[in-house]
Amino acid sequence: MNQWRRIMPGVFENLPLSGCLNSGSESNADEPTLLEKLSLIPFHTKKTHSFDAWKHKGKETWWQEIMEYADGAYNHPFITLLGGVGTGKTRLAWTIAWAWLNKGWSVLYYQVEELLDALREGYSRWEKGDAEGYHVVLRHAQNTKLLILDDFGAEHGTLWAKAKLDQIVDYRYVHQKPLIATTNLTLEQLSERIADRLSEGTLIQLMGESFRINKGKSIPKARK
Ligand SMILES: Nc1ncnc2c1ncn2[C@@H]1O[C@H](COP(=O)(O)OP(=O)(O)OP(=O)(O)O)[C@@H](O)[C@H]1O
Ligand SMILES: [Mg+2]
Repeated sequence: MNQWRRIMPGVFENLPLSGCLNSGSESNADEPTLLEKLSLIPFHTKKTHSFDAWKHKGKETWWQEIMEYADGAYNHPFITLLGGVGTGKTRLAWTIAWAWLNKGWSVLYYQVEELLDALREGYSRWEKGDAEGYHVVLRHAQNTKLLILDDFGAEHGTLWAKAKLDQIVDYRYVHQKPLIATTNLTLEQLSERIADRLSEGTLIQLMGESFRINKGKSIPKARK
């Protein structure tokens, strides 16, 4: 297990480790499989985030295209979900992810800032002589079957961060590997090189008010 922690830094932290890496992986519906753990998608959403549970299902113009993507059929491997806060971007990405995971396909989910943190951490260890962690995070992001990068534009845009994101998006673009990107911004507000690649794929605008406000009907008052 320590070896896995070392070569996949951050992947196994805070997860219920039921020994599935050491023993044979008996499947148990209440415990995440190795594939599910490696996806970094919160396991509790496996039950809640289905297309059946999606409010307004079937009414959106993009519904059919997303259903096909969730089934692994697409014209272009890139999908970008745009929209204001709470409009369902992360939920839709996770719902697609569960469809892929349920087929046994690998998925990796990161908020962009978290991916950069993982790369930075690995990079600083590399400078101290441990090159493995950095490369594992990078290769995992480049090569997983589906990569989800959430909240583009919220990251701290140092030159190094921009270069890393560009490297990953470009790798997946060149190798035609599926990528779901989400952002609160418009494509024009993102880095030009990344926006240019994303705009070649499918762009989906999620509309309406935040589901978070709708869920509670109104914003609750803070306790004083
Ligand atoms: N179509 C939907 N049906 C049911 N619940 C939804 C739907 N869309 C969003 N939600 C719920 O609303 C909340 C906000 O959705 P989500 O986190 O996906 O929004 P977001 O667009 O990613 O927001 P942000 O930009 O703040 O990250 C979540 O609890 C999510 O499960
Ligand atoms: Mg979100």
